[in-house]
Amino acid sequence: MNNSKNVLNYMFGKGAISNLASILDQKESKNDYVIYYIDEYFKGKTLVDKLPIKDDDRLVFTQTKDEPKTTYIDELKEQLIDANKCEPKAIVAIGGGATLDIGKAIANLLTNPGKAEDYQGWDLVKNPAIYKIGIPTLSGTGAEGSRTCVMTNAKSGLKLGMNSDFTIYNQLILDPDLTKTVPKDQYFYTGMDTYIHCIESLNGTYRNAIGDAYANQAISLCRDVFLSDDMMSDENREKLMVASYLGGCAIANSFVGVIHPFSAGLSVVLGTHHCIGNCITMNAMEEFYPDEYKEFMDMAEKQGVVIPHGIASNLDNETYQKLYNATVIHEKPLSNALGEDFKNILTFEKVVEVFKRM
Ligand SMILES: [Fe+2]
Repeated sequence: MNNSKNVLNYMFGKGAISNLASILDQKESKNDYVIYYIDEYFKGKTLVDKLPIKDDDRLVFTQTKDEPKTTYIDELKEQLIDANKCEPKAIVAIGGGATLDIGKAIANLLTNPGKAEDYQGWDLVKNPAIYKIGIPTLSGTGAEGSRTCVMTNAKSGLKLGMNSDFTIYNQLILDPDLTKTVPKDQYFYTGMDTYIHCIESLNGTYRNAIGDAYANQAISLCRDVFLSDDMMSDENREKLMVASYLGGCAIANSFVGVIHPFSAGLSVVLGTHHCIGNCITMNAMEEFYPDEYKEFMDMAEKQGVVIPHGIASNLDNETYQKLYNATVIHEKPLSNALGEDFKNILTFEKVVEVFKRM
């Protein structure tokens, strides 16, 4: 039976980020320096000037052009070792899902020996992580609430995180003012990640009542936001931030389904970003999730967002083989959705047909 854990503290509301200094001041620890990981998008932006960064702290702008690779995480750890900054008071991560995941991965790796790839899987992290604070600037991935931090291992083709209670943030600051300037398409694609997580989990067999309650509430908030006239109004940005957090909690209690494995295939083989990859995968999901497929398309139309089409329709056989491998490797979600013998349903031919339909 699941012994579920949630984020211990969270602060929610407009302007909440101004409380970061006092949260850090209250935290007792051996050392006083803090490591900041901030999405490179904020380089030179006013957000950085407003942070309580001190001389002894370390500020790292994370590259988010590509999603986190295990080698990139190792590099960031090495940088801290070289700078003799391995026992910070806190790690503060500010950004979208990729940056939040980087903060989690580094917090685990500073107290556990070895490389990032050693911890890809379930409950492999042995020692409690460094205290960490997550501040999302995009809503939808659920990274702020989840017990994983997704990373791609380019060598093995495995896109899998460090699933562990130690991965969960100690403190969140949820400030809907931070999502005001997100480009419209990205806001939609990322927001739909939470909708997609939740419909996958509710359609799966591995369920529990608490996970279902989180998922149902997150979906209901997504409907409010994406079926409304202005998905980015003040009220809707607040709602989506809550939906994202609840979606992350839902996933901590269950598994995803068919969509995420296909989307992971796109991302490992073609480098497609996670959230847009999910939306592209939805193009081909009518047979697996008929009602949700229709609702998803209605939402995209209502918001005037175009879902790219055809990125995997004309590839060579070798690439389809790679896509197949990178998809069916996700046994837990696929058996959650389709049963233990999912490979009888998702044959090579079937998987290629699905990719061609995207
Ligand atoms: Fe996701």
